[in-house]
Amino acid sequence: MSEDGIVRDGLLPGDHVIVTGGGGGFGRSFSRRFAKMGAKVSVWDLNQESGDETVRLVRDAGGEATFFRVDLSSGPDIERAVNATLQVYGSPYGLVNNASIYPRGSLLDMSVATFEKTLSVNITAPFHLIHTFGSAMIAARRGVIINIASGRALEGAVNGANYACSKAAILNLTKTVALEWAKHNVRCNTIIPGVSFTAQPLENTTPEELIARGAARIPLGRIGYPEDVAGLGAFLMSADAAYMTGQAVAMNGGMILVS
Ligand SMILES: NC(=O)c1ccc[n+]([C@@H]2O[C@H](COP(=O)([O-])OP(=O)(O)OC[C@H]3O[C@@H](n4cnc5c(N)ncnc54)[C@H](O)[C@@H]3O)[C@@H](O)[C@H]2O)c1
Repeated sequence: MSEDGIVRDGLLPGDHVIVTGGGGGFGRSFSRRFAKMGAKVSVWDLNQESGDETVRLVRDAGGEATFFRVDLSSGPDIERAVNATLQVYGSPYGLVNNASIYPRGSLLDMSVATFEKTLSVNITAPFHLIHTFGSAMIAARRGVIINIASGRALEGAVNGANYACSKAAILNLTKTVALEWAKHNVRCNTIIPGVSFTAQPLENTTPEELIARGAARIPLGRIGYPEDVAGLGAFLMSADAAYMTGQAVAMNGGMILVS
């Protein structure tokens, strides 16, 4: 309890956190940071190799993590991963809906199947996981959900209607979860990262071009790195954010000024 008599809840050592896309750029950084805070981390990813590497890095640093392979575009596969995860670590205190896909294409070139696949990974899977794990968080009267959006949620995306729509949707899902579950002490916030040095933007350009673009266009003079968003994730997971829910916080070098 603080001096003001308020009990502020946040991640405690031994709590369990699930990070989807935990083998990727941001997901690895989140996993390492939460493990450093004492969490047992479930690293969920489609890619076994990169997920295993995240687990290795966490364990080498003295932390606790386990990899669970999952295809977030498949409801049955999600259910399988949920059951496997519950058997190892039980219900999570924290859930980070971080995985996403970004198949690019103009409106006329993009198939309905591509649009729907993107929504299935980027918004249906987060809903599925929030829906699945929310009851235990509510029963425990503690839990933190962090969703990852994008500046594309605010500005749209040329050649990315699928991605932009999914990211706009997750901003709204965050608000609804926050409003419905605030009375249960379950918090839900969104991080809006800026363009960062990870695989996803590199699908579309070269490392040199990405770095040069950041230096030229981003007010703070560089692109972001996974460690930049990991710190914000740690804050949102912690007791310092106990009075914060339903918000979207941008970490983007000043590129898009959200309010
Ligand atoms: N990097 C950026 O510039 C940037 C900017 C804004 C928002 N974001 C968002 O940040 C989050 C993390 O992105 P990142 O840059 O670390 O990307 P990344 O490509 O490095 O990581 C994404 C991870 O998700 C996994 N994944 C993809 N499809 C999956 C599926 N069907 N099932 C399970 N796992 C799957 C991938 O294997 C990968 O490990 C995403 O939500 C992304 O949209 C990134």
